Amino acid sequence: MRFSRIAAVAAAATVAEAQRPTDTSICDYYTTALLKENTAKNQYTLLTLVVNTVVIGNYTMPNVGIKVPGILAAGQYEGTDVNLLPYFTGELASTNRGGKSGVSVNFLDGGAAEPLMKNMPANDMNSKQYFLLTHLYQFFGSLLGCSQQGMPGFDAYTAAASMYKVHKFMDLNPYEVGYFIQQVGMAAASFGVAEEDVKAVGTALNSLFGYRCAPPATAIKAQGPALQSICIDGACPVSPMANGTCDPAYEPVLVPVNTTSNATKAAPGAQGTATMSGSGSGSGMMPTMSSMPSAVPTAGATAYGVSFAAAAAGVAALLI
Ligand code: HEM
Ligand SMILES: *[C@@H]1O[C@H](CO)[C@@H](O)[C@H](O)[C@H]1NC(C)=O
Ligand SMILES: *[C@@H]1O[C@H](CO)[C@@H](O)[C@H](O)[C@H]1NC(C)=O
Ligand SMILES: *[C@@H]1O[C@H](CO)[C@@H](O)[C@H](O)[C@H]1NC(C)=O
Ligand SMILES: *[C@@H]1O[C@H](CO)[C@@H](O)[C@H](O)[C@H]1NC(C)=O
Repeated sequence: MRFSRIAAVAAAATVAEAQRPTDTSICDYYTTALLKENTAKNQYTLLTLVVNTVVIGNYTMPNVGIKVPGILAAGQYEGTDVNLLPYFTGELASTNRGGKSGVSVNFLDGGAAEPLMKNMPANDMNSKQYFLLTHLYQFFGSLLGCSQQGMPGFDAYTAAASMYKVHKFMDLNPYEVGYFIQQVGMAAASFGVAEEDVKAVGTALNSLFGYRCAPPATAIKAQGPALQSICIDGACPVSPMANGTCDPAYEPVLVPVNTTSNATKAAPGAQGTATMSGSGSGSGMMPTMSSMPSAVPTAGATAYGVSFAAAAAGVAALLI
């Protein structure tokens, strides 16, 4: 039933030629460009297409000729092997369910890739997969400024406000987070999103989530500020907004246990350290990844109208 919509994606190649007006959000602009009417339902469809592509790689025919592996596929980021799949299958006990350490959860329990290829979040609306995917549609819909979100057809995001809390037992490093953000950018590009918009999204994601010890920031306006660092491994660069301190609410990093071997996760790159909590005045405060931006970019995203550009703007407005 959605084939006519998907076919509209064929027009994507021409979309990138035009310049998005600064008063139109990325979500609104590309919903109109690809699906014609800028309705809540169509915005939900756009986010479904993009997020499903982020997860399983490009699956819609045709696309604009950009191959997207997807975050479930093993790959490389800046020459380092990355494999995010074990966080989603339950192989790693890395999910925060409120305890002192992570637990094993299989997030591919709703049919895995098969429903995603049919533009659905899952076959089973009670599955972990369903909640994860729909939360991702909602979260990214908000980040991309979907004006109709909250109307019937596209629910607002009301799940966890702190991305730190959600990801705190994963010990994610810059390669893992970089790979994820790169897949988001490639998925968007595969639908014809213009390069400068792709860049704005990547910059904003990296600014909000790609640094450890980032002070509280607002990702979802209605939720207000919360700790947002997703990159928390010792190899992650320290947020330039942290001023050399780490909010004590960032706890010592725990490396998740591999449930098949009982060893801790085999991590590419530098291993996590437990030095980022507390006063945070130690050696751990120096950014260690030369491959990451050494400062939070201050322009760009806001100018392009990305609604989550507050962090990228690098301003005190965000800080508690
Ligand atoms: C910029 C990067 C990222 C963003 C914006 C992001 C965003 C999110 C959001 C919104 C949720 C749903 C939270 C909820 O349901 O309350 C989530 C869950 C999850 N994310 Fe991420 N994520 C990012 C990077 C990563 C990376 C690199 C991994 C590594 C595998 C990852 C793995 C997961 C997993 C396993 C869950 C399910 C956790 C749970 O339900 O407890 N994420 N993420
Ligand atoms: C993914 O995109 C590449 C490049 O356009 C294309 O060759 C491939 O067929 C696509 N894969 C699917 C499943 O659509
Ligand atoms: C860092 O310093 C700036 C400038 O003095 C200040 O506005 C900001 O609130 C500080 N951030 C934190 C987390 O203390
Ligand atoms: C992992 O540890 C648990 C509890 O100590 C033990 O029952 C299980 O047999 C171990 N599994 C492996 C693969 O070593
Ligand atoms: C978990 O342990 C198994 C068995 O040793 C190994 O093959 C796998 O690569 C490990 N996975 C991770 C994520 O460390």
